[in-house]
Amino acid sequence: MNPLRVGRLTVERVTVSISGLDPALQQTRIVQLSDFHYDGYRLSSSLLEEAIAQANAAQPDLLVLTGDFITSEPYPILTLAQKLTTLQSRRGICAVLGNHDHRYPKARKQVTHALEEIGIQVLWNQQAEPLGPNLPIVGLADFWSKQFDPASVLDQIDPQTPRIVLSHNPDSLTVLKPWRVDLQLSGHTHGGQVVLPGLGPAQRWLPDIDWCFPDTIREFLSSKKGKKTKKKPKRHPTLKHWDWSQGLHRVDDSWLYVNRGLGTYWPGRLFCPPEVTVIELVGA
Ligand SMILES: [Fe+2]
Repeated sequence: MNPLRVGRLTVERVTVSISGLDPALQQTRIVQLSDFHYDGYRLSSSLLEEAIAQANAAQPDLLVLTGDFITSEPYPILTLAQKLTTLQSRRGICAVLGNHDHRYPKARKQVTHALEEIGIQVLWNQQAEPLGPNLPIVGLADFWSKQFDPASVLDQIDPQTPRIVLSHNPDSLTVLKPWRVDLQLSGHTHGGQVVLPGLGPAQRWLPDIDWCFPDTIREFLSSKKGKKTKKKPKRHPTLKHWDWSQGLHRVDDSWLYVNRGLGTYWPGRLFCPPEVTVIELVGA
């Protein structure tokens, strides 16, 4: 992607207050990266290296990766995983998968395996305790997958215990009302990519076109040549809550942070640069 249509990487710093935060976790620093779309088209090596450098410079206690490592074919995950070995974090790295990470057959398995091989904990309706038992990290299966099952993991946690939920798609927060969610970290939206001053993301006002445009053309051409095409995955609207397209939001008793991601789809970004997020936790 032409850097002129991507914009400069931006480091966003936010402070989030968590009710009942263990005093030992005061000022815990979490760094979030999202939506790599590492496929040779949507993320340059230089931008990826810069994002890794910025993430390391923030000296995170915990690094979280919120999905869409790849776009379609899963094989680029091997190269991406090699590059991610340079990430540094005191208490490790947790990840969830995005809709693109399970779009193609066996993609979920291959992406998970490649990340786990380099020590990244991939959570699919699972919890981990890299910050200790007083602040579990819950990672949900992608909202559009048939396996999305928050009850299987959130029912296991004492309601008195604060927790952070990693979920690729911000819309998932709408179905998490039965449970305590102190902070949900998401990506998926790319911030809207094209943001119109005063109006917000252009996608909010346009019909929901397929932003995976080159893949759609490739699939069409291969079907014309008589090649067997895979069954088309079910189409979902990219996002229902476009007011949550980026940044920090208060939704009932939860905080939601939506990262603008690193990868960029056609036609590029406008007033919506790629992002590394540095989150500091404080007691409420
Ligand atoms: Fe994405």
